[in-house]
Amino acid sequence: MRILGLSNMRDAAAALVDNGRIIAAAEEERFVRVKHVTALPLHAIRFCLQADGTRLEDLDAVAVPWKYWQLGRRAALTIGSMLQSPRQFAVKGGRAADRLIHEWGELAFLRMLLSRRVDGTKCPPVVFLDHHLCHAASAMLVSSFERAAVMVVDGASEAHTTMLAWADREEIRVITRVPLPHSLGQFYAAITAYLGFRPDHDEYIVMGLAAYGVPRYAQTLREEVLKTLPAGQFRLNARLLDFHLARRGWFSAEFLRFFGPARRPEEEIMPRHQDMAASAQAVLEETLLHVARHLKAVTKEQRLCLAGGVAYNCVANSRLLREAGFDEVFVPPAAGDSGTALGAALWLTHRRGGSSNFKGMRTASWGPQFSEAACQEALDAAGLVVERLDEAPLCEKVAGELAAGRLVFWFQGRMEWGPRALGNRSLLADPRREDIRALINMKVKLREPFRPFAPSVLEERASEYFALSGSSPFMVRTAAVQSSMKGVIPAVVHVDGTARVQTVDAESNPRYRRLLESFARRTGVPVLLNTSFNVNEPIVCTPQEAVACFLRTEVEWLVMETLLVRRHSTPSAPEG
Ligand SMILES: [Fe+2]
Repeated sequence: MRILGLSNMRDAAAALVDNGRIIAAAEEERFVRVKHVTALPLHAIRFCLQADGTRLEDLDAVAVPWKYWQLGRRAALTIGSMLQSPRQFAVKGGRAADRLIHEWGELAFLRMLLSRRVDGTKCPPVVFLDHHLCHAASAMLVSSFERAAVMVVDGASEAHTTMLAWADREEIRVITRVPLPHSLGQFYAAITAYLGFRPDHDEYIVMGLAAYGVPRYAQTLREEVLKTLPAGQFRLNARLLDFHLARRGWFSAEFLRFFGPARRPEEEIMPRHQDMAASAQAVLEETLLHVARHLKAVTKEQRLCLAGGVAYNCVANSRLLREAGFDEVFVPPAAGDSGTALGAALWLTHRRGGSSNFKGMRTASWGPQFSEAACQEALDAAGLVVERLDEAPLCEKVAGELAAGRLVFWFQGRMEWGPRALGNRSLLADPRREDIRALINMKVKLREPFRPFAPSVLEERASEYFALSGSSPFMVRTAAVQSSMKGVIPAVVHVDGTARVQTVDAESNPRYRRLLESFARRTGVPVLLNTSFNVNEPIVCTPQEAVACFLRTEVEWLVMETLLVRRHSTPSAPEG
C-alpha cells in the first residue's frame, strides 16, 4: 500500500510511505529556496515519487493533514468576529485571506491539480484527515513505543490548538482538545512579534534570548494573558494579545501599558527584551507542564509523544521530560506542520490496516541524495580543484583540519527531514575553541551573537559531557553540560549552561559517526559543533547549492561525499 502525504499550508512538504515503511520525505522550502514556504509541494512530491520510481497512478491514496471544509468554518467564524471589529478586519483581511482562499481552492481541486502538474497520470483518491491526529501519528507511529500519552501543541489546527490523546499501535484515542483562540503557539508567536522578530519564523531566537533574561514579567503574563485552568486547560486573553494583530505589529494599549513598547526589528536588544523573552518562555513551559501533568494523571502512561510546532521548543521539551512525570519523551525530527505530511501518510496507512511494525525512527535521512559524480560535476563547473579520498583517510584529514580551528562544510547522504542539520548538510567546527562562534559568525553567518550552536556527540560518550538520559538523535531537547566539561567545549555551551544535543549512534549515519570518532581519537573529545549548511536561506539541498554557498563564505573546506575541496585552491585554468 503506497500512500503519498502532502501539506500545502505553511511548511509545505511531502512524504511517501509504502506499507508503513518511510520511502522519502522532504520539505518544499529546500527545493524552492524559500523558508517555511506555503505552496502546493510539487517539487517535494516529484522527489518522493522519483525516489521510489513511482507515478501518481501507482499510489493507493493521497493523504492530506487538513479537513479543509472545517477550515472553512473557522474562516466563517473569523470573518464574523472581524465584522464586529473594523480594526481587526483591516488587519486580518487582505492578502492573508486571499492566500487562505487559494490554499483551500487547491485542496478542493487537488486531484485534478496533481494529475495535471505532477506527471500527467491519474491521481488516486485524496483523503483529508484531522490535522492534530496527523501530528500525533507523525510522532507515535515512528516512535519505538508500544503505547504512550500524546500531546500535540501548535498554532492552530482546523479549530483547535492543543490535543491530548492516548495511543497504542492500534489507535489514537482523543482525550481532550483546547479550542481557538487559546493557542500556545500563537501566544509565543505574538511575543516573538512583540520582541521585533518574525512571528511563525523566529521563535527559536526568542527561546535562545530567554536564557539571558530574568522572568520578571511572568507573573503579569500568568495573571493577564495566559491563565491555566483545572483539568489541563488554559485560556489566552486574545483581547489583550491578539495573534493576528500582533503579526502586523499591533498590540493593545493595555498590553503595552503592562509591558512597555514593542521592540522595532532594528532596535538594540535591551535587558527588558531579554526579560520578556525569559518571561514568555517560563510561562510557556509552565503551561505545557500543567497540560502534560494532567495528561500523565489521566493516562498513567510512562511515555510521552510530543508534536506540533511548539515541540520545536527544545528547552520546554527538556523541562517536560524532567518534571511532567514521564520516563521517556519522543519528539520526531519534523515536529511542525511539515511533519504532518508524513503523519498523514502513516495515519492513513494505519487506518487501512497497513503494517506498522516500525521499530522506531533513528534517522532523519529521508530527503534527496546525490551521487559522487553529481557532486564532482558541480565542483568542476565552479572550477574547483577536487581531491578524492577513501572514507577513513577523509575522516582523519577532516578531523585534523577541524582540530586546527578550520571550518568544514559537510555534505553527504540524504538531506535531513525537519529543520535541523544532523550531519548530512552541516557546517562543522571544533567545539573546544572559545573563539569559534565569533569565527563562524564572521566567516559564514550573520546571525544574532546570542544564539547558541549545538553539539553532536558519540552516543555512548554523551553522558560524560551532558546530563542526558537516553539518546537524542534529532536535536529536539537540551541538556545541562556537565560542569567539569563546560571549559572543554565552550563553543556549544549556552549562557544557561545547557546545550541542544545530537547523539550519534553506530548505525544511523556511519560516515558522520566515523568523523566524530576520528576527532575523538585525535583530541580526546567526541564532540563537534554542528550547525546547518546555509547562509540566510533554507539548508542546501543540491550539490550546486552547496558549492554556491561555499563560495559565498570564507569557510576553508568543503566535503561532498568523499570529495574534498580547499578554499584558496587555484581554480583550474581554462584550456586553450
Ligand atoms: Fe500544526
